[in-house]
Amino acid sequence: MKTKQVILITGCSKGFGLETSIVLAQKGHRVFSSMRNLKKQDKLRELSQGLPVYPLEIDVDKPSSIKKGVQYVLKQTGKIDVLINNAGLGSWGPLEEFNDQEMHHQFETNVFGLLRMTRAVLPVMRQQKQGRILNIGSLAGRIAVPGMGLYCASKYAVRALTNVLRIETQSFGIQVTVIEPGPFKTNFVENQIIPQTELKACYQTLMKKLNALNKNRFRSSATIVGLKIAEIIESSKPMKICYPVGREAHIFSLLEKILPQGFFYQRMASFFRRTAVSD
Ligand SMILES: NC(=O)c1ccc[n+]([C@@H]2O[C@H](COP(=O)([O-])OP(=O)(O)OC[C@H]3O[C@@H](n4cnc5c(N)ncnc54)[C@H](OP(=O)(O)O)[C@@H]3O)[C@@H](O)[C@H]2O)c1
Repeated sequence: MKTKQVILITGCSKGFGLETSIVLAQKGHRVFSSMRNLKKQDKLRELSQGLPVYPLEIDVDKPSSIKKGVQYVLKQTGKIDVLINNAGLGSWGPLEEFNDQEMHHQFETNVFGLLRMTRAVLPVMRQQKQGRILNIGSLAGRIAVPGMGLYCASKYAVRALTNVLRIETQSFGIQVTVIEPGPFKTNFVENQIIPQTELKACYQTLMKKLNALNKNRFRSSATIVGLKIAEIIESSKPMKICYPVGREAHIFSLLEKILPQGFFYQRMASFFRRTAVSD
């Protein structure tokens, strides 16, 4: 078991980032918990009293902020053993409804932000000849579901980037993986990008069905994700290519593996044709 790692996490003001910071620090790791706005550090400070948690500012949309953040960690510790690319947000609505700004925002943070962070940390890990990068993907990066098309596209991209980075960096002693949680209770739903325009009448029935299906889905404790991440980081075994987390993620990633794609998406389409919602 590896102990006392220097871990840099993005998006720690709440949700998985915050929970994971606490779990890892409780296990003795030195956790650099970054967030884009340090005014939001109160909850982290309160929960991490007496633990080796160090809040710092990083906005993954801003290259200068990333540079400063990474330099800060290096100045304090001289190394970065683990990077957890967690910062991200969802979006909710039919693909036709998003404007350019909304589309760019989704990819700016979830995809380009993750890649910017990775590019900033890779030279450090290359020099160390070791390092682990855990990208927070999603079940939505494995299965494309209506209403989440834009978000799914961003998380499919995270999966693709992970698979390529894994190969490109293996000879440097660096391991890369993607964590694919199903739905968990965080601030994810409240913080989603919603199209600014009024929903066209032709999409209202579909969105009503989706809203009904999603109600009560995001209930599991985010600590489960933190514990899984700790288990992965503390294992001396090489990291797997991906880790589904939660019941839904396990079931659907298995179905996606064993069922032919055409059949899978045909079933989903017919489910949405058949499902009625009451007014
Ligand atoms: N919850 C789920 O069901 C679920 C499932 C699968 C995957 N995920 C993924 O898990 C990750 C964490 O989400 P969460 O569920 O914990 O949601 P959350 O509670 O809304 O937390 C998201 C975190 O990302 C931060 N963030 C957003 N944009 C940022 C930026 N430009 N720079 C730095 N930080 C930024 C937020 O900061 P602010 O407070 O400043 O907004 C917040 O700290 C995301 O990548 C999400 O896609 C979530």
